[in-house]
Amino acid sequence: METTLIILKPDAVQRGLMGRIITRFEDKGLQIVGAKLMQISPELAATHYKDHNGKPFYNGLVGFMTSSPVLVMAVRGIGAITICRGMMGATFGSKAAAGTIRGDFGVSNSFNLIHGSDSPEAAARELSLFFKAGEVLDFARAGERWIYDSSSGKAE
Ligand code: RTP
Ligand code: MG
Repeated sequence: METTLIILKPDAVQRGLMGRIITRFEDKGLQIVGAKLMQISPELAATHYKDHNGKPFYNGLVGFMTSSPVLVMAVRGIGAITICRGMMGATFGSKAAAGTIRGDFGVSNSFNLIHGSDSPEAAARELSLFFKAGEVLDFARAGERWIYDSSSGKAE
């Protein structure tokens, strides 16, 4: 099982899209194992996006991410990082394919609704930035046996 950090960005919260986006992850069979509404501080935004420091869009990105509350989530499933990135779509709303979150809910390039970790290393780093110990939960879902086929002894 893999756990990834998803952030519903200020535009998603302000536009009332949280429910519809969360529903997509739940419908897919992914499990929400952590969630909180929070205002990101400039320091936290800078740490989270440290790899982009110095790029032309960096100041705008930090300003946007700290401009209004976000919903941060820990999302779990087999291959969750790659699955979530696929569901998000290409970075820019203007380019993202129909059927993806960015493709279906936005047209802007910078107001692109959602963040998702892009590797296992990034997921581990980002989850520890946004969630304290005990805030990401381990719990069995009632319908788990119909989400994955475990008949071989291994969930797939
Ligand atoms: P994210 O980190 O937010 O999940 O997005 P991403 O992986 O698809 O894109 P990334 O390259 O990591 O860029 C981070 C965020 O910076 C903004 N951006 N603007 N104007 C530009 O050229 C530009 N490039 C990136 C976007 O908000 C992007 O989500
Ligand atoms: Mg990124």
